[in-house]
Amino acid sequence: MRSDRQIRNIALIGFMGAGKSTVGQAVARQLRFEFVDTDHLIEARAGMPISEIFAQQGEAAFRQIEQQVVTELAGRHHTVIATGGGVGANAEHLASLKKHALVVCLWVSPEVVWRRVRNQTHRPLLQVPDPQARIVQLLEERTPVYRQADVLMNSGLRQLTQVVQNVVHQYRIMTRAPRPE
Ligand code: S3P
Repeated sequence: MRSDRQIRNIALIGFMGAGKSTVGQAVARQLRFEFVDTDHLIEARAGMPISEIFAQQGEAAFRQIEQQVVTELAGRHHTVIATGGGVGANAEHLASLKKHALVVCLWVSPEVVWRRVRNQTHRPLLQVPDPQARIVQLLEERTPVYRQADVLMNSGLRQLTQVVQNVVHQYRIMTRAPRPE
């Protein structure tokens, strides 16, 4: 492991619908870590939902706040961080997360993503005429960066508890953190 890394957090990256928030909350409960979600931090900072930021200020403004939020995560300790799907697809953000966190990418196929998001309306990037094609295209573009996570885990094929145990296990191996009493 590179010596400039001080792993004290866990960052979950991956595509929309990969289960980052659900898995992250369960991992945080188990390790007794704090849980944060970059999308919630962005919404709190902007004072409006993500769909509104996109609609009123555009994607570039959203990405700017996202960048600030990711940079500030470096000050966190014992935190499980669920990231928005664009964070782990950005090589600079990924490098920044790796300095303080074990980065786990939750992987799902385009079919699983579509099944999970098709009835939801809060993701502006998928409010397009052909969201399925958009999912395939975005996944293809983003995969080379997602692949640079420390750990890749297929969360579409496993039960939630298995994914959670696996993340906790990987973190303990990496940090030899003792089990809570
Ligand atoms: C985005 C994913 C969303 C949210 C925003 C942009 C992306 O988060 O950050 O809509 O670029 O993939 P989730 O991955 O939590 O849906």
